[in-house]
Amino acid sequence: MPKTRRILITSALPYANGHIHLGHLVEYIQTDIFARFQRLRGNQAVYLCADDTHGTAIMIRAQTEGRTEHDLIASMRDAHLADFEGFDITFDHYGSTDSEENRSLCSHIWQSLRKHDLIVQREVSQLFDLKAGIFLADRFVQGSCPRCHAPDQYGDSCETCGATYSPAELINPVSTLSGTTPEIRKAEHLFVTLESLRPFLTKWTQESGSLDPKISNYLAGHFLNEPLRDWDISRPSPYFGFEIPDAPGHYWYVWFDAPIGYIATTEQWATKHGGSFADWWCSGDTNQPNAEIHHFIGKDITYFHTLFWPAMLKIADMNLPTKVRVHGFLTVNGQKMSKSRGTFLLARTYLDHLNPAALRYYYATKLSGGIDDIDLNLEEFTTKVNTDLIGKLVNLASRTARWLKKTGLSSSYPNDGGLFAKAATDGEAIAAAYESCDFARAMRIIMQAADRANQYVDNEQPWKLAKQGPQEQQRLQDVASVSLNLFRQLVVYLTPVLPKLADDVAELVGDPITDWQQSQTPLENLPVATFRPLMQRIESSQIDAILADSNALSSTPQGSTVSETSPIKSEPGALPEDSTEPLESDALAETCTIDDFAKVDLRVARVVNAEEVPEARKLLKLTVSLGGDDRRTIFAGIKKFHRPEDLHGRLVVIVANLAPRQMKFGLSEGMVVAASGAGADGVYLLSPDSGAMPGMRLG
Ligand code: 2FM
Ligand code: ZN
Repeated sequence: MPKTRRILITSALPYANGHIHLGHLVEYIQTDIFARFQRLRGNQAVYLCADDTHGTAIMIRAQTEGRTEHDLIASMRDAHLADFEGFDITFDHYGSTDSEENRSLCSHIWQSLRKHDLIVQREVSQLFDLKAGIFLADRFVQGSCPRCHAPDQYGDSCETCGATYSPAELINPVSTLSGTTPEIRKAEHLFVTLESLRPFLTKWTQESGSLDPKISNYLAGHFLNEPLRDWDISRPSPYFGFEIPDAPGHYWYVWFDAPIGYIATTEQWATKHGGSFADWWCSGDTNQPNAEIHHFIGKDITYFHTLFWPAMLKIADMNLPTKVRVHGFLTVNGQKMSKSRGTFLLARTYLDHLNPAALRYYYATKLSGGIDDIDLNLEEFTTKVNTDLIGKLVNLASRTARWLKKTGLSSSYPNDGGLFAKAATDGEAIAAAYESCDFARAMRIIMQAADRANQYVDNEQPWKLAKQGPQEQQRLQDVASVSLNLFRQLVVYLTPVLPKLADDVAELVGDPITDWQQSQTPLENLPVATFRPLMQRIESSQIDAILADSNALSSTPQGSTVSETSPIKSEPGALPEDSTEPLESDALAETCTIDDFAKVDLRVARVVNAEEVPEARKLLKLTVSLGGDDRRTIFAGIKKFHRPEDLHGRLVVIVANLAPRQMKFGLSEGMVVAASGAGADGVYLLSPDSGAMPGMRLG
C-alpha cells in the first residue's frame, strides 16, 4: 500500500456564458482549500476544472453579441482564469468541455449506453420560437403556471406553487428571446432509460458512504421511491454542442457532456504527466492503486451528480465518485444575491477593492461541510476579518517580529508554558475538521490557539522588556521567539486557506511551508527578515466601493452566469426613488432647435474590438463598426468601469460626425455616448434595444 492517497478533486464546471461571482467562489474556494490541505498532508491531490461550453444559453449569448461561440468561449476562459488566479485558486489543469478529448470520451460512454440497450428514441412536443428559429430551452420561455396560474413562470417549474411541468403546458407562453408566442412543434429526442439502474443507484446512494445522509435521504424520498423517468439526452439542431455520431442532426444535451468533461480534463492533465485518464477512472484497466474521486458541487445540481452521473459511469465500467460533497447557496446580507439591490457581486469587482485572503478566510469560517446556505454578511465579514486575521493572528507577528531582526530566533526554543505543545496536539483535530470539510471548526480551534498566544504576549509585555537594559535582551528574544513560533504554527494550519500569507511568512523566517508536520516543531536559531505588514484591515469605504461598482455593473447584462436548468430570475419590484441630485447639480442646457439637434449625427455602432491603452489611466481604445466595412477608432474614458472583454460585440451609441481629434495615442474618430454625473460612481454606456443595427440613426 502506498503511504499517500491519490485524490482527484473537481469543482463544478462553470458555464462559459458569464463571469465568476462570489456565489461561485463558495465552491471554488472550498475545493481549493481541500486540495491544498491534502497536499500539505503529503497526499497526491489533483485539482481539475474546466469551462462548461455547450448549450442554448451560450449559443444565444454569442448570437446577441455578434460573435462565434468559440470566440465567446475563448474570451470567457481568459476572464475565468484571471478571476480564479486572483483568488489564489490553483488548478492542476483547466480544460474545456469543447475539447476533442471530451468528444471522444462522450462517444465512448454513448456506445456503452447503446450496447446496454439503454437508448430509446421518441417524439417530444417542444416550444419553437419562429422568429429566433430555435427550440426554446426551459429558461427561455415564460408564461402562467398551468396549476396555480401564477404569471411569469419559467418553462420547467413554478416558483409560486412548486409544480413541475413541460414548457408546452405553460398558459400563454412567451419566448424571452423574441417576445413572440412560440408554437408547439414535434421533434425526435433520444432518451436514456434509467429504471433498470434503480437497484444499483439505490444501493450506491444509500450504502456507499459517498453522500451526506441528508442527500441520501432526499434521493430516496424524491426519486428512488418510484420508477425513474427516462432522461432526455439529445437536442435537435440548431444547438451548440457535439453532434451525436450515430444520430446526425441530434446533439448531446449539455448535461451529458459536462460531467464527462471531468474525465476529459483528467486525460489532458494525465497526458502531460505521461499517464492516462484510466489511471484515475478505470481501476480495472491499470496497475495503479485505487484513486479517490471527490466532486464538489452546489445543491442545485445534486441529481445530475448522484443519479445520472453514477449511472453513466457504471454503464461505462468506470470508477464511481468516492465523495460527492454538496454545499448550499450564498446569500448576501441574508438575501439572494440581487442585481436590483446591488448585491450581485462579481469576483472581479471584489478583487478591484479587497484582498482575496479576506474572503477565503471568511468563507472558511462559514463552511461546515453541510448543505445549508451560507450568508455573506458584509458587516460581519469586516469585523471577523479585522478581529481574527489582523487583531489576533497577524498581530502576533507584528507585535514581536521586529525585535528579532538583529538577533534572529533564540538558539533553543524557550519555555512557553506548554503553549506550542498544546497547539501541536490540536493539529489532529484541525486536520480531521479539514478532512470532513468542516473548515468552520478548524478555524475555531486555530483562533482559540491564537487567543492563548496573544494572552501570553499580553502577560510577558515585551514592549516593556525592550525599554529595559541589556540584562533583559535575552528575555526579549525568547518572548519574541515564542510569539513568532506560535504565529507560524498557526500559519501552517492556515496554509490551505491563506496560501499567500504562508508564502510571506516563509520569507520572514526563511523556511517555506510545505508540510503539515511543520506545525509540530518550533523553529530555532534562524535569522528573521525585516517585518513587512502582512495584511491590511478592511475599511468600510472598501465595502461601499464594491457595492457601488456592483450597482453600476448591474445595468449591463454581462454579470451573471445563467444555467440551462437553474435560472436566475430578475426580481420585479417597486420603482426606485430616483435622486434629484444629477439634475440639480447639472442644470439643463439652453433650448436648442430641432435643426441644432439634427447637426449631431448619433448612430448605433457595434464594438468589434476593445483594448487597454497601457499609458492612459482612463482610456480604452475601441474599434466600432457602423455596418459593412465602416470602422472607426474611438478613445473612450471608460476604463475604470468597463473591461475590454465585456464590451466586445456590444451595441453602443456614438456621435458619428464629431470632428476627429488627434490624441497622444492616436486619432479618435467619434465619441461613445455615456451617462455620468453627480451622485454616480460610474460611467454608463447607452445601449439601444435589441433589434437595432449598426449604422442606424438616432433621433
Ligand atoms: O450548473 C452549472 O453551472 C454547470 N455548468 C455545472 C456543470 S458540472 C459538471 F457536471 F460538469
Ligand atoms: Zn404554480
